[in-house]
Amino acid sequence: MYSMKINIAIDGYSSCGKSTLAKLLSQKIEYSYIDTGAMYRSVTLYLVNRGLIKDGKVDRNLIISALPNIDVTFKYNASKNQSDTYLNGENVEDEIRSPDITGLVSGISTLKEVRQKLIALQKKMGEGKGIVMDGRDIGTAVLPNAEVKLFVTADLEVRTQRRFNEMKAKGYSYSFEKVKNNLLERDHNDTHREENPLRQAEDAILLDNTELTIDELVNMAYDIVMKKQNH
Ligand code: DC
Repeated sequence: MYSMKINIAIDGYSSCGKSTLAKLLSQKIEYSYIDTGAMYRSVTLYLVNRGLIKDGKVDRNLIISALPNIDVTFKYNASKNQSDTYLNGENVEDEIRSPDITGLVSGISTLKEVRQKLIALQKKMGEGKGIVMDGRDIGTAVLPNAEVKLFVTADLEVRTQRRFNEMKAKGYSYSFEKVKNNLLERDHNDTHREENPLRQAEDAILLDNTELTIDELVNMAYDIVMKKQNH
């Protein structure tokens, strides 16, 4: 049905709705979804499990020497109709979303060698086209030639509320302020790091979903993709 396969790059701040959009859009157009945040989270989990992050501090050289031992892949899970993340062959889909990993991952993602490794893997995944990839630097560094680039935003209050609800549903009782401060800290790290900071690519389309339902957001993105494919 969709003859010309293209690549779709989706970037944006933490908890802005980009992963939900990427997942639903990929299902709708029958593309593969690549969650690059899950890859940074998996590397962080590996380092935590090996005791290479202590009290939030890292030894850069130890991390660099550990990188060749880290393999991150995705495998389709039919019961969920989505891919699960595997770290060295082990399903870590739930573990990588814990608050501990969430608190450490943006620091780890600032390390140049970590980014180089994951960006190389992500570029490879994009070679066959037909993927929706989300992250922070997809439109700028990973898939600079993606046919469709979307930059997703939402007001901080709205993002905090969504993340707060998500955490509550998982059984974590963090205050609204704490969730907000964590988002602000991640925004700051993501936009101020030296290597491939989060920014909107010049040719990306801005989608502000502060006042949109997820269905409305998906439909907007779908229309953009259809226009591009029929061009
Ligand atoms: O999208 P997420 O919250 O799962 O991402 C986790 C962290 O990884 C986030 O703090 C920023 C980082 N990240 C990145 O630096 N580059 C990407 N392409 C994706 C995520």
